Amino acid sequence: MSSRICDGRHSRSAIYNLFQELTTRNDLPHSAAPDGNGLNNILVRFASKQDLEAIYGVEDESFSDPYPHDLIAKLLRDCPNTFFVAEYSPATIAGYCVASEKGKSAHLISIGVLRKYRRRGIGTALIQRLLANLSPTVKELRLEVKRDNREAIVLYEELGFKQVGLIENYYQDGSTALKMLFGLQDKDASGGETE
Ligand SMILES: CC(C)(COP(=O)(O)OP(=O)(O)OC[C@H]1O[C@@H](n2cnc3c(N)ncnc32)[C@H](O)[C@@H]1OP(=O)(O)O)[C@@H](O)C(=O)NCCC(=O)NCCS
Repeated sequence: MSSRICDGRHSRSAIYNLFQELTTRNDLPHSAAPDGNGLNNILVRFASKQDLEAIYGVEDESFSDPYPHDLIAKLLRDCPNTFFVAEYSPATIAGYCVASEKGKSAHLISIGVLRKYRRRGIGTALIQRLLANLSPTVKELRLEVKRDNREAIVLYEELGFKQVGLIENYYQDGSTALKMLFGLQDKDASGGETE
């Protein structure tokens, strides 16, 4: 099991701050229609309430300090357009990711893939789907990852994230976070690039 890694995987106070941040945000839509792109027998689609138990399972298996289930449920309510699951046919949730958006910046809060489904491109597909679905106003996706989480760092670098700094003593166990950033090119409302 990996130790607590992703951005947001910080202290209880940071989780509380995240709650507060989300609670004060009223600008996000609160419904999401099913949607998805096929990846062989993997479908990456918006998460729904019916997926929550499976998402908790992914979270609990992926992290030694999993997020509280009520936080994940709140994230689904507040960030429906940036909360995705990877469904492995038939009807198995193999992974999920969620991000929050604020102004020009989005923040990857969590990504996890069940161990038995790793190294099949699911993590990559989840982040690509997230990047494609960020609001046109968002110019960057940022994250924090434990400095020793080699597999996640390689995944992010292969997707184009850059290492932009360190935060010492970031996690509850005192370990250091690596800050990473993905810069999005200007997009018009249809998702195309502007001149
Ligand atoms: C990180 C994680 C989401 C990656 O999911 P995944 O579905 O296995 O990722 P992908 O299959 O898309 O991997 C893409 C690339 O990342 C790199 N990578 C992924 N896992 C790796 C590993 N264990 N060792 C080395 N490189 C790895 C490889 O370059 C891989 O490409 P390749 O398989 O063609 O060599 C998954 O390992 C996980 O859930 N880990 C526990 C939770 C976690 O750490 N989340 C990140 C928090 S910031």
